[in-house]
Amino acid sequence: MKHKSTSDKKVIQSFLLVGFLLTLLGIFSIIKIIELSDITARFYQHPLTVTNATQSIQTDLTSMHRYMKDVVLAKDNLELQTALKKVNTYERNVYENFEVVFTYYLGDKQEVSTSYELFKNWKHIRDKVVALMHEGKKDEAIAITKEKGAEHVFLLNKSIETLVIFAHNKAELFVQDANNTKHTSIIITIITVLILLILIASIMLMLLRSLKNAESTRIEHEHQMVMQSRLAQMGEMISMIAHQWRQPLGAIAAVSIDMKMKLELETFDLSTSQGQKDIQDFFNERVDDIAEFTKNLTRTINDFRDFYKQNKELKSVTMSEPLNKALNIIRASLKTNNIELKEEYRSMKTLAVYESELMQVLLNIFKNAQDAFEGEQIKNAQLLISTQDVDDGILIKICDNAGGIEQHILDKIFNPYFSTKEAKNGTGLGLYMSKIIIEEHHNGELRVSNVNEGSCFEILLRDHDVND
Ligand SMILES: Nc1ncnc2c1ncn2[C@@H]1O[C@H](COP(=O)(O)OP(=O)(O)OP(=O)(O)O)[C@@H](O)[C@H]1O
Ligand SMILES: [Mg+2]
Repeated sequence: MKHKSTSDKKVIQSFLLVGFLLTLLGIFSIIKIIELSDITARFYQHPLTVTNATQSIQTDLTSMHRYMKDVVLAKDNLELQTALKKVNTYERNVYENFEVVFTYYLGDKQEVSTSYELFKNWKHIRDKVVALMHEGKKDEAIAITKEKGAEHVFLLNKSIETLVIFAHNKAELFVQDANNTKHTSIIITIITVLILLILIASIMLMLLRSLKNAESTRIEHEHQMVMQSRLAQMGEMISMIAHQWRQPLGAIAAVSIDMKMKLELETFDLSTSQGQKDIQDFFNERVDDIAEFTKNLTRTINDFRDFYKQNKELKSVTMSEPLNKALNIIRASLKTNNIELKEEYRSMKTLAVYESELMQVLLNIFKNAQDAFEGEQIKNAQLLISTQDVDDGILIKICDNAGGIEQHILDKIFNPYFSTKEAKNGTGLGLYMSKIIIEEHHNGELRVSNVNEGSCFEILLRDHDVND
């Protein structure tokens, strides 16, 4: 129980850890996604917008410069006004784009101001050119546009180029940033997923182990119960052994009395060699008989000892072995109760079994039959025991003609504490334990049915995997 609760604790702790890691992974992913989207947004706002704006400024400057040339080359006032209008339109665009650059430029704003001032100062030069044109000093206007004006535009372009380069470099930095974020996210996600997989695998192993432990504890507990119920049968067994021993003990007593009588009555004439030979033969025969009876007694007591041994070891046997051992304990008791025993052993297979547990099942069933015969006062009581090999194992059938089991209790007799033997203080555990032994410890089947004049118990022991 204690073991179970600590493993439960471990499982809960591991699940909490997995949950915590998953949450961390989730938070981390969200942060990284926000970071990436931030980078994208900044990438869009700064480099793209600034690059576009600065490039527009450059083209507009070129256009302005070209239209300034149109201004100085104008043949009449109309041409002059049209060209000036164009220059003004592009100028407005340039101012608008400067505003964009001011807002989004991430570098030193002073650089933008310098370009802006340069642009503003160009206005004086242009105004001067226009004034000269109005005054009709065309050549002077052309000269200023070509020299001072061109030079100013060149400087302006150069200054704006600095902004373009900065914006471009910034774009590359953002791409690099995004790539770095992507790589760290991938690596951290892989590591976290690996840790999670390892954790989940360990949790599963732990669960499997604790399930296995619980299963073996349950089986251990059942083996103990089987042993306890076997001990509880001690009283009955002693009475069976008493029956079993009565006959050989009686026989030994009879033989001894016979020997003593022969000596006392001086039946043999020891003065003749024939008499000496006869007494020798007589005693040899009787001693052999006693030896045979003693062997019987020893066998019964050995089988009884096997029955009480808590043997947890599987043993490969043919079915006649546990059957004979069980019968050696109960045979005389059956005989005393005038129960005729019919044995038909046809099975040749050997199977790995817990022998004493199997003996316990057999003795339970034999004893139940004996009780039923006694209860029903059956005259020609017969107990038929047969074994046969079947496809998937061995089938043992134990059938009696004691009247059978009433239909309405047929599905209850394997329940714990179900007994109809109130007077005899039946525990009602015999068949319950038998079923556990056969079905859970031996992966077999224990069934009952009413046939002819009585009931038939069938034990199927399967060839393969005994469950322990
Ligand atoms: N061969 C049989 N013929 C008729 N009834 C039987 C036979 N075997 C078992 N039963 C019925 O099944 C019931 C349950 O048997 P089970 O061996 O579990 O307990 P029990 O024999 O009553 O008690 P205990 O085994 O402790 O002496 C019996 O009380 C009896 O009613
Ligand atoms: Mg019983």
